[in-house]
Amino acid sequence: MAKGYSTRVLTFLMLISLMAVTLNLVSSTAEAKERRRDVPIVKGLSWSFYQKACPKVENIIRKELKKVFKRDIGLAAAILRIHFHDCFVQGCEASVLLAGSASGPGEQSSIPNLTLRQQAFVVIDNLRALVQKKCGQVVSCSDVLALAARDSVVLSGGPDYAVPLGRRDSLAFASQETTLNNLPPPFANASQLIADFANRNLNITDLVALSGGHTIGIAHCPSFTDRLYPNQDPTMNKSFANKLKRTCPTANSSNTQVLDIRSPDVFDNKYYVDLMNRQGLFTSDQDLFVDKRTRGIVESYAIDQQRFFEDFTVAMIKMGQMSVLTGTQGEIRSNCSARNTRSFMSVLEEGIEEAITMI
Ligand code: HEM
Ligand SMILES: *[C@@H]1O[C@H](CO)[C@@H](O)[C@H](O)[C@H]1NC(C)=O
Ligand SMILES: *[C@@H]1O[C@H](CO)[C@@H](O)[C@H](O)[C@H]1NC(C)=O
Ligand SMILES: *[C@@H]1O[C@H](CO)[C@@H](O)[C@H](O)[C@H]1NC(C)=O
Ligand SMILES: *[C@@H]1O[C@H](CO)[C@@H](O)[C@H](O)[C@H]1NC(C)=O
Ligand SMILES: *[C@@H]1O[C@H](CO)[C@@H](O)[C@H](O)[C@H]1NC(C)=O
Ligand SMILES: *[C@@H]1O[C@H](CO)[C@@H](O)[C@H](O)[C@H]1NC(C)=O
Repeated sequence: MAKGYSTRVLTFLMLISLMAVTLNLVSSTAEAKERRRDVPIVKGLSWSFYQKACPKVENIIRKELKKVFKRDIGLAAAILRIHFHDCFVQGCEASVLLAGSASGPGEQSSIPNLTLRQQAFVVIDNLRALVQKKCGQVVSCSDVLALAARDSVVLSGGPDYAVPLGRRDSLAFASQETTLNNLPPPFANASQLIADFANRNLNITDLVALSGGHTIGIAHCPSFTDRLYPNQDPTMNKSFANKLKRTCPTANSSNTQVLDIRSPDVFDNKYYVDLMNRQGLFTSDQDLFVDKRTRGIVESYAIDQQRFFEDFTVAMIKMGQMSVLTGTQGEIRSNCSARNTRSFMSVLEEGIEEAITMI
């Protein structure tokens, strides 16, 4: 009698835990689907690329970045910007991470529009090492960067979204000339930006939404003092201009200014509220509110953060697929800052790839 009872209790408990496991699985798959956006993905990338080879890659990166950002939230902005630079120059293939690239690690470039934070490159290298320790040399640096950029948004308070994966890393970095030619300058107006983005299959919505990346992070004086000296840009709020003049007493001052004065470290829609108050930092920001083609979109994001978040995620997924290398193109770098040497391992990797393509 007692035995029968305990068996029944045991069976019941087992059933309950089985249900819990099943529910958990169902809900986590549902959650993974939920995070996907209705954006076409390019051939060679997939939503579940590392499911077999490195199922924990996203957890490893998210967990480590939580620690990193607790010490310095500014690195979230730095990483997001590196991903943008990577994608706009030659495509999202981690060329920006190579030592020797115009804005990459080791390059103490004084050109203000190339001031990527060196510390952020170290963070990416560390993430890559953690992932390699767990899974081997299977996850590319460009994918690590794309995931880290997403997590920079999420951990700053922004929207979560799934990232298509399967990028491969380039074998060469871009020259300084290519880099400068491909990055829109802060003094560009909306017409120039619209044309530049259109050339990359990014439309006006994408332009305004992606510019919202400037809701976090900082800039150096020379990136915007052309709007203060010798003449003050009439589209800039006068009290804001006076404040900036105190921050940057000379045009070439090495001081910095936050991009979003309302909530500098939070990924929210306040950047657009800044623009409506004529407190955008760059011409490339403020002109989005001046130009009739983009003004309505700025206003819609300023009053509806959810709408901004939706459009931003779609645009990030589009940008994150620009000219990617896939399949057997490029390589999976072992050290994000350097090309693989033709070591035993990389020869082995190529051998495996050849074997795979032969099947
Ligand atoms: C639309 C054209 C864009 C222009 C002209 C532009 C220009 C700039 C400039 C000049 C800086 C400051 C550099 C300095 O003085 O240190 C900056 C910073 C930044 N940009 Fe952009 N950017 C653009 C688009 C984007 C996009 C698409 C993103 C990401 C989605 C982005 C994310 C950032 C972030 C997060 C920072 C702060 C970096 C930090 O704090 O280290 N930008 N941008
Ligand atoms: C970047 O800055 C340099 C030096 O200030 C300038 O010559 C160049 O035109 C700028 N290029 C872009 C794309 O902003
Ligand atoms: C935008 O800038 C370009 C290049 O400086 C200039 O030719 C054009 O007239 C500007 N457009 C507007 C609407 O200000
Ligand atoms: C831009 O493209 C997205 C799809 O990627 C679309 O939803 C949006 O309506 C487009 N915006 C414009 C102004 O065409
Ligand atoms: C700022 O620095 C640049 C080059 O570093 C120089 O050509 C320019 O004259 C300087 N401008 C001012 C206002 O000091
Ligand atoms: C300029 O900034 C001040 C102070 O932040 C603000 O109260 C005012 O509304 C702004 N003016 C305009 C024209 O946006
Ligand atoms: C990665 O490559 C960079 C640039 O060549 C080098 O300085 C660094 O020591 C390398 N890191 C490791 C762990 O080998």
